[in-house]
Amino acid sequence: MRKIKDIRPLELRDGFLYVIDQLKLPKEQVWVKLENLEDYELVIKDMVVRGAPLIGIVGAYGFYTGIKEGIEPSEISYRLKRTRPTAVNLMWAVDRMERFYYSYREDDNILQLLLKEAKRIELEDYHGNRSIGGYGEVLVPKNAKILTHCNTGSLATAGWGTALGVIRSAYENGKDIVVYVDETRPYLQGSRLTAWELLQEGIEHYIVTDSSAGFLMSKGMVDLVIVGADRITRRGDAANKIGTYGLAVLAKYHGIPFYVAVPTSTFDLSIEFGSDIPIEERSLEEVKRCVGCDIAPEESGALNYSFDVTPAELITAIITEKGIIDNPDRGKIERFFGKK
Ligand code: MRU
Repeated sequence: MRKIKDIRPLELRDGFLYVIDQLKLPKEQVWVKLENLEDYELVIKDMVVRGAPLIGIVGAYGFYTGIKEGIEPSEISYRLKRTRPTAVNLMWAVDRMERFYYSYREDDNILQLLLKEAKRIELEDYHGNRSIGGYGEVLVPKNAKILTHCNTGSLATAGWGTALGVIRSAYENGKDIVVYVDETRPYLQGSRLTAWELLQEGIEHYIVTDSSAGFLMSKGMVDLVIVGADRITRRGDAANKIGTYGLAVLAKYHGIPFYVAVPTSTFDLSIEFGSDIPIEERSLEEVKRCVGCDIAPEESGALNYSFDVTPAELITAIITEKGIIDNPDRGKIERFFGKK
């Protein structure tokens, strides 16, 4: 077994959460201390932390911090949940903390109990990711060339990662893999964050522009595509970083497996169709400026949808910490969650 570096994007010190400022990577690794609810709102909204599972975990610690400040639980939940709309893990974690609070609020140690519950959410995510890696790596051939999009690694989770966790697990088990990393405009999660993680592991990788996928596939350079997701509906439609849908269409055309790796907290069984998932729209500045430079005429309009939706029919399998759902559809997902 190869040795893998265990990057963790968050750390608890003396009751305060510290997070790696992902806006500063890969240039510098700076830790930010979160002292009050407003700090939590800002780091999630401004993408100092990002990635569906990680914003859920940070949201859970944010709920604890809000109670410590004496803020009403409903206000805390409202303020945290409105920071980013697409990743359901945030709503899931904050709702879980609020339910926990109402179950134990008479306890003298309610604050310690809430802190423990947030830690539990973090640890469940980490161990879940190891399990996703274990299930998923079986699907990765020995010398696989893998295309991935956005950042789904340690930096997007409590550690290890989902889609990137599968890649880590395959590499740990001695598979010699090559990873093509979509740069992932406009925020560059691929070139700034995924490449940074792969570099630490010594995994061979090449950053490619987002428009390269079709060409690489047509040349036989891609054996499989693996991505994460921010929300998966009851029928298996998956919202993920903008550009994912295009990759899935291309993979289908070229007969290449398209895998989605997620914790079960990414499922939103209350929604049937992907078209009902709220899609975040971010500032146009992110499109019209790049690393501090104007790259477009000031007068031009721009669109900045942060996510798109891949229909279930284009997904070869969804890999979770509880097992794999092949060719996902409503019936299989309901059975998987014991809803049928
Ligand atoms: O806007 P981001 O960086 O939060 O978007 C992240 C993604 O789209 C990831 O693919 C998704 O959250 C899964 S992370 C394990």
